[in-house]
Amino acid sequence: MTNERAKFGSRFGLILATAGSAVGLGNIWRFPYMAGNNGGAAFILVYIGCVLLLGIPCMISEFIIGREGASNTARAYTKLSNGTAWKYIGFMGVLTGFLIIGYYAVVAGWCLQYIFASAAGELQGDPKYVAGYFSEFSASPVKPVLWTVAILVITHLVVIRGVRGGIEKASKMFMPTLFVLLLGLVVASCNLPGSGAGVEFLLKPDFSKVDSGVFLGALGQAFYSLSIGMGCICTYASYFSRRTNLLNTAVHISLVDTMVAVLAGLMIFPSAFSVGIAPDSGPSLIFMTLPNVFQQAFTHLPLVGYIVSIVFYVLLSLAALTSLISLHEVCTAFFLEEFRISRLRGATFVTVIACVVGALCSLSLGHTDLQLTIFGKSVFDALDFVTGQILLPFGGFLTCLFLGWYVPKKIVKDQFTNWGTLRGALFGVYLFCVRFVCPICIMLIFLNQFGVI
Ligand code: PHE
Repeated sequence: MTNERAKFGSRFGLILATAGSAVGLGNIWRFPYMAGNNGGAAFILVYIGCVLLLGIPCMISEFIIGREGASNTARAYTKLSNGTAWKYIGFMGVLTGFLIIGYYAVVAGWCLQYIFASAAGELQGDPKYVAGYFSEFSASPVKPVLWTVAILVITHLVVIRGVRGGIEKASKMFMPTLFVLLLGLVVASCNLPGSGAGVEFLLKPDFSKVDSGVFLGALGQAFYSLSIGMGCICTYASYFSRRTNLLNTAVHISLVDTMVAVLAGLMIFPSAFSVGIAPDSGPSLIFMTLPNVFQQAFTHLPLVGYIVSIVFYVLLSLAALTSLISLHEVCTAFFLEEFRISRLRGATFVTVIACVVGALCSLSLGHTDLQLTIFGKSVFDALDFVTGQILLPFGGFLTCLFLGWYVPKKIVKDQFTNWGTLRGALFGVYLFCVRFVCPICIMLIFLNQFGVI
């Protein structure tokens, strides 16, 4: 390629964009619940251990492949594998990207609808009403599909503006906003009467709850939450400059991601406990439980409750949007480079496919007559399961083996130390993790998920 490849404009922008991929629904609807139920601060410590041991080494590996390959994921793996079968890891990443976009955009679309529903006061009512509202809305044929298309169009409008003018600029706007909104909600939640019990539930260490299942659950969550295993990190790293310190960047991104997850817990539990509602996880937490929590927690200050509810869904939409942008970019970069078409055409192609997958996911919930099922699960649940539980860990596993054992050590070391300009004191530790610790741990998560151990 004769043109110089696009690059992020600043270190701050690069970290916000990559953290934007990592910070998403996983941080808000799964982490708090896992932490609360699995030993509070004890779980958080185990989680941090997993991030250090598995997350950061895997992330650095993807950084190395992306920056060395300087192209979309499929081509980056192809280049480094000299065309051997390892290249399919990169193609698998692009495929996984399409599959995740499909169901992720549906949930992001629900968040958009809920911004307007809370603004219009539609979410006021008893718990049964709110639960019914969600069941009816998510199963209806038109509205959720339109919202899915809407969020994909917004994603499209960012991606077509390119790396610096689109992705980086959007992340610089969205991520700080997300932080401010999150902090505001944490303060509002922690100031409610009786909120201390929620803080205690999230943070009180209880090591007796930490067993091997919890440990492996934390590993899986670290993986999903950091967007590892499907090329998002690799694609973004292809836009890093030669001076970017990879270890340092991975540490910063993991820190931001973990902080947001813990803050999400401090936003959800104190308010839920103050009104005596037991929080759950997944879509039912966000779309059925929390509207009630907000309503009841602020009965004496209805205006605050009203604002908190809107702000919460804006925050969720932003978190989901920045992750969607990274997923979209993985696929767009692939089409634009492999088929030598313009960014606009590549992105349009991706958006259209994503809309179709998203519509199928949305329609599979509630339209049993259409038979949109795979292995007895709705398309929505099947894609969630196949990507989160199978494709991401598998992609990460293969990436570690590929980088640890196949790619020449010199390339890895040069990338790690920025061609000898950094000391690289931790290179040995990193390589040991990638060669042994990560593949073994990921294998264990895998076997655990399928009930083998
Ligand atoms: N990391 C995102 C989250 O926490 C999910 C994601 C996974 C996004 C893989 C992109 C790629 O919600």
